[in-house]
Amino acid sequence: MKSTPKLNLEKSLALFEEAKQISPGGVMGIRRPYNFVEGEYPVYINRGYAGHIIDVDGNDYIDMLCAYGPIILGYHEPEINRAVIEQMEKGFCFSLVQPVQNELIKRLIDLIPSAEMGLLVKTGSDATGVAVRIARGYSGKDKILRCGYHGWMDWCVEVPGGVPQKVRELTLDFPYGDLETLEKLLQENKDEAACIIITPVGHPLGQPVSAPPQGYLEGVRSLADQYEVVLIFDEIRSGFRVAMGGAQERYGVTPDLTTIGKAMANGYPISACVGKAEIMKVAEDDVFISSTFFPNSLEMVAAMKCLDILERENVIDAVWERGEKFLEQLKKIVGQSKVPATVSGIPPMPFITFDKADEHYKNRRICFYTNTIRRGLFVQPYHHWYISYRHTAEDLENALQVIAEALQVVENDYPV
Ligand SMILES: Cc1ncc(COP(=O)(O)O)c(C=O)c1O
Repeated sequence: MKSTPKLNLEKSLALFEEAKQISPGGVMGIRRPYNFVEGEYPVYINRGYAGHIIDVDGNDYIDMLCAYGPIILGYHEPEINRAVIEQMEKGFCFSLVQPVQNELIKRLIDLIPSAEMGLLVKTGSDATGVAVRIARGYSGKDKILRCGYHGWMDWCVEVPGGVPQKVRELTLDFPYGDLETLEKLLQENKDEAACIIITPVGHPLGQPVSAPPQGYLEGVRSLADQYEVVLIFDEIRSGFRVAMGGAQERYGVTPDLTTIGKAMANGYPISACVGKAEIMKVAEDDVFISSTFFPNSLEMVAAMKCLDILERENVIDAVWERGEKFLEQLKKIVGQSKVPATVSGIPPMPFITFDKADEHYKNRRICFYTNTIRRGLFVQPYHHWYISYRHTAEDLENALQVIAEALQVVENDYPV
């Protein structure tokens, strides 16, 4: 199998050149071309429909990155858009809140096991920032034990630039799946640790995705209790994807606080921190949380409608079922290939990781992603993929076909 020709990306690349003159780096963070395969991926998208995106040069892709998570249904959902437009006509940005705030929080309380009270914010970083602020306010302690990516704020950003050393020293990392290291950190910091924040499904950057090993989340819960620290599940990715009540519902372990976002409103910017009333209540007086745009209601209306559709159409079960088949087929394809790579993930979040011990690791990975994007499958080398509700059986079969062909090109160009 040979490489297919390079895509026409003329308009995307010209826009990117322009952007670099007017904005530092052209585009922000994880959307920069070097996070994909530079020169092979589009930089600008024109529009999306169902499970597809179309770039500004007219290339159409099956999109399994799903906007890095928010697209649980599909691109352009008329029912959500209509609800949002109706709200727009009434107004959505006031000095006071609108009743939909209460409706949405009550709904989160009904759905999420740990939720007794909630605060609505906008981004995932807002929500995790709120959770650690509340945990610090409640405990009167400063240190944070964390496992996973939690956003761009000072307390958790992984790139040290611009963050005071003193702030960085307050956050301690522990590896997913390893109770011993967590316990050691708790012992060493028992008078200073405010909280443990963890993504209940393990998805470290560029590494395999893992469902919680047997007993792991229970172990984290019991260590949090033993050392009297607040346990936060960061369910920004797993919320409304792994189950309606999040990974905590599927795996049966309830944290003290939970953050959710991404899939909550199918792309509209909204997130939340929910949790035990006793802890959440520090946000009544003791800690300050406010932003001009937090009360804007368009995203709340979008979330209510998105949750209606998720429930009415049993979306999570459907995505899980398709994901199971996809993972099974993916394992077969990768198993038959000689390329040193491993399939990991849970059904809604599949992934392939290339073996870092392989001397051709980088070339093989680049060759694979060059050939998936050229064949019309939008996936990312460092971030797991997602299944959305509007991915049709045909989309998923086509995606598997592309993956099989791309692996054959890798075998051809870099024989094992
Ligand atoms: C688990 C998790 N927490 C927090 C965040 C930060 O969310 P946002 O990018 O919306 O600020 C992300 C984003 O990818 C995430 O995956």
